[in-house]
Amino acid sequence: MSVPESKYLSPVWRDGLFKDRVVFVTGGAGTICSMQTRALVRLGANACIIGRSEGKTEEAAKDIATARPGSKVIGIGGCDVRKVENLQAAADRCVRELGGIDFVIAGAAGNFVVSLDCMSANAFKAVMDIDVLGTFNTIKATIPHLLRSPTPRSLFISATFHYTGMPMQAHVSAAKAAVDSLMASVALEYGPRGVQSNVIAPGAIAETEGAARLISSEEGAMREYEASIPSGRIRTVRDVADATIYLFSEAGTYVNGQAIAVDGAAWRRQGAA
Ligand code: HXC
Repeated sequence: MSVPESKYLSPVWRDGLFKDRVVFVTGGAGTICSMQTRALVRLGANACIIGRSEGKTEEAAKDIATARPGSKVIGIGGCDVRKVENLQAAADRCVRELGGIDFVIAGAAGNFVVSLDCMSANAFKAVMDIDVLGTFNTIKATIPHLLRSPTPRSLFISATFHYTGMPMQAHVSAAKAAVDSLMASVALEYGPRGVQSNVIAPGAIAETEGAARLISSEEGAMREYEASIPSGRIRTVRDVADATIYLFSEAGTYVNGQAIAVDGAAWRRQGAA
């Protein structure tokens, strides 16, 4: 798939910004994280992306590698973030093949739209396990490698639902609140050892299947939603990729322990979306 650069990267960044850096990404074949990874690779990084599906993850890795000739992008499928040993094996392979881990993006997430009435205990647990335990496992498996990097960064992908609560998303809201909290503890425990940790809360993004399912189930709902956003437009994957580049670059070094909503101030206007 040929993706025009303007879809995932602002023209303000310089070539080679992330030369010799390696990024380890869970959920790296998904819409948001694959574009974050593509942007970092385009700017010089090599990458290891992790996913549950083997075919999808390996395809995505090949595709991301086209962003920069000579880049190395590994796709590790069959990896469930709920199993820490899967992540430890993936992190070890990343270090063996790419030389280390400098940046971690914990992006794997579970989501479906369901009312509390219809949500089983196991459905709630499935999302808590993927989002919360999965993020913990990602940090657990990668922190020994991050601590050896000259520029260690961890970034958790969260949401804005839990700022207000969200109907049909009680499981995801609870999980993302825990993800934000986990990030804060990682920043406090590992900040003194040089690791920068933050959350990006993308809110709803037009290109994600998850968001499309959540927002546009009713005719015209997406248009109405867009009109209500203070910044006047729906978010794109590029907005999230650009914020990621800032946080991982030298310019973002002093931003630590923060949850940054990249949502055009949407949640402040109409509640989390
Ligand atoms: C109600 C559901 C359900 C649904 C699953 N379950 N889907 N309940 N409505 N649509 C229930 C099952 O019935 C079961 O409970 C329990 O959840 C576990 O389901 P399994 O399929 O056995 O689990 P598992 O294989 O572990 O899969 C879990 C999953 C996952 C969460 C459904 O496959 C998944 O996340 N798929 C979607 C991935 C996705 O969309 N990711 C994008 C995230 S985007 P019972 O009681 O029957 O045993 C995103 C952006 C959000 O998050 C937007 C931001 C603004």
